Amino acid sequence: MQKKHKMGRCSRTLVLKLLLSLVIITLFLGDTIVRGGVLHTNSRWIVNEDGQRVKLACVNWVSHLEPVVAEGLSKQPLDVISKGIKSMGFNCVRLTWPILLITNDSFASLTVRHSFQNLGLLQSIAGVQTNNPSIIDLTLIQAFQAVVKSLGDNDVMVILDNHITQPGWCCSNSDGNGFFGDKYFDPDLWILGLTKMATLFNAVSNVVAMSLRNELRGPKQNVNDWYRYMMKGAEAVHAANPDVLVILSGLNFDKDLSFIQKRPVNLTFKGKLVFEAHWYAFTDGQAWVNGNPNQVCGQVAGNMMRTSGFLVGQGWPLFVSEFGIDQRGTNVNDNRYINCFFAVAAGLDLDWALWTHVGSYYFRQGVIGMEEFYGILSLDWSQVRNTTFLNRVSALQLPFQGPGITEGRPYKLIFHPLTGLCVERKSMLADPLPTLGPCSSSNGWQYTPQKILTIKGTYFCLQAENEGMPARLSIICSGSNSKWEMISDSKLHLSSKLSNGSNVCLDVDENNIIVTNACKCLSRDHTCDPGSQWFKIIDSGRRSILTTSTSSTLNSPLSST
Ligand SMILES: *[C@@H]1O[C@H](CO)[C@@H](O)[C@H](O)[C@H]1NC(C)=O
Ligand SMILES: *[C@@H]1O[C@H](CO)[C@@H](O)[C@H](O)[C@H]1NC(C)=O
Ligand SMILES: *[C@@H]1O[C@H](CO)[C@@H](O)[C@H](O)[C@H]1NC(C)=O
Repeated sequence: MQKKHKMGRCSRTLVLKLLLSLVIITLFLGDTIVRGGVLHTNSRWIVNEDGQRVKLACVNWVSHLEPVVAEGLSKQPLDVISKGIKSMGFNCVRLTWPILLITNDSFASLTVRHSFQNLGLLQSIAGVQTNNPSIIDLTLIQAFQAVVKSLGDNDVMVILDNHITQPGWCCSNSDGNGFFGDKYFDPDLWILGLTKMATLFNAVSNVVAMSLRNELRGPKQNVNDWYRYMMKGAEAVHAANPDVLVILSGLNFDKDLSFIQKRPVNLTFKGKLVFEAHWYAFTDGQAWVNGNPNQVCGQVAGNMMRTSGFLVGQGWPLFVSEFGIDQRGTNVNDNRYINCFFAVAAGLDLDWALWTHVGSYYFRQGVIGMEEFYGILSLDWSQVRNTTFLNRVSALQLPFQGPGITEGRPYKLIFHPLTGLCVERKSMLADPLPTLGPCSSSNGWQYTPQKILTIKGTYFCLQAENEGMPARLSIICSGSNSKWEMISDSKLHLSSKLSNGSNVCLDVDENNIIVTNACKCLSRDHTCDPGSQWFKIIDSGRRSILTTSTSSTLNSPLSST
């Protein structure tokens, strides 16, 4: 704001410099916003005070198990963990907490040391003493505040997630924490807890949202009580802290929000409501192993659209607040699911939180020091468990669409979920081979009504040459081998017809070369994995302009101001 006043008095070159930096700042913010400020919603997008999209790209950080201490403080200094989250490109943390942390004063005023002592976790005491000596004698609620502050100091937003009432691993149908009226789920106590938590963090600017309750479930769950209590909870949080977004989870372990389609949530305030949903491989049992991956992806993604994905079409933000896989790469069910998940999440450009950041737990389900194979970090929290997986996740960290990103210059990206990369043209040189590169700097494509994929602003189209051969870029785009249909039940194969009449599918070989091969496992076969042939054509915006042409960055933002 100040910049505008100053410009009138500056020399011409300085004006240009300032404008240029303004452009760069604008582009930068549009891409990697982490400073939330106060967030609100604009249709299906979460936006900042300037109306620019803020995509939630979060990790779950667990703080609701029996010790009620954010995991990992016995392994690494808090600031190191927070900086790690930030440096991996995540802009927020979904920090879990149990109601008793804030409603039971004698519990909240236990020190970290005593909490561990009560559970016999002496190694954790020694670890926190070493790595976080300033935290070991804080009370549990002070330690929780210290974690939030450390994240804020490192420009990481926080979503306070009420995970459960009683501290402990979550969730089962019979744990008494599942639905309003369950043994440990007193609605009044819950409202009190939400109110106190919202109040405690009222002036803490990096706390941008509160999710009211994780994974509603169990025999008592029903739609009428969902509306009754979730609206009460939402109003209570908003009254105590009008700055935070209010995030509502669905029924049946946060898989089902279908009821919203017919009956909207009626709140007294606007522009703050977000829905959340969970989606794992095991959400569908062993379906990914037992079925044909194309058919399962088609079915499961279709089901997801009916139960929660439809919300974005109705103008509500959808936050996939839990997804993830065993990062050892040995779980076939997980491996197949995650390709489909990435395709859907990129296609809809959803907000999300990965389960999880933690490499291990102090104490989970009776096991001391349990390793978390779904965790981004290794057992000792000193390194990334699987950099390949992290790189794939990072493809989804930047927004593809939305206010401040898509305006004026929409185009497509050809996203390859298995690698987390996008199909692009290597350079401005006349290289005839398409290649894979980071989606953040990928070429924009056009997908014409004739099913031709051309690089935007050029005559080059994607073309199949022969089975087993690299695909190429050509400027003669009239043949059947330049037409690409999205086929199979997953609609994730890009298929073309060679001049000899045979069909091939775009594929990525083991050296990451883009080739065309016979289409894999189009139906029935459940022993094969088509992952290398899955591509998703997604809508995107301005980002590639940044790297493909510096001069064109000057045009759009400047002419619009
Ligand atoms: C409150 O916390 C104390 C100390 O941990 C515990 O003994 C007590 O049972 C808790 N009260 C409730 C209502 O859970
Ligand atoms: C929404 O709630 C208000 C009162 O809080 C009520 O007046 C209004 O009729 C409700 N609207 C719908 C569509 O239920
Ligand atoms: C990382 O995951 C990939 C599969 O996504 C797997 O092949 C690889 O072995 C994993 N690496 C480690 C170190 O676990």
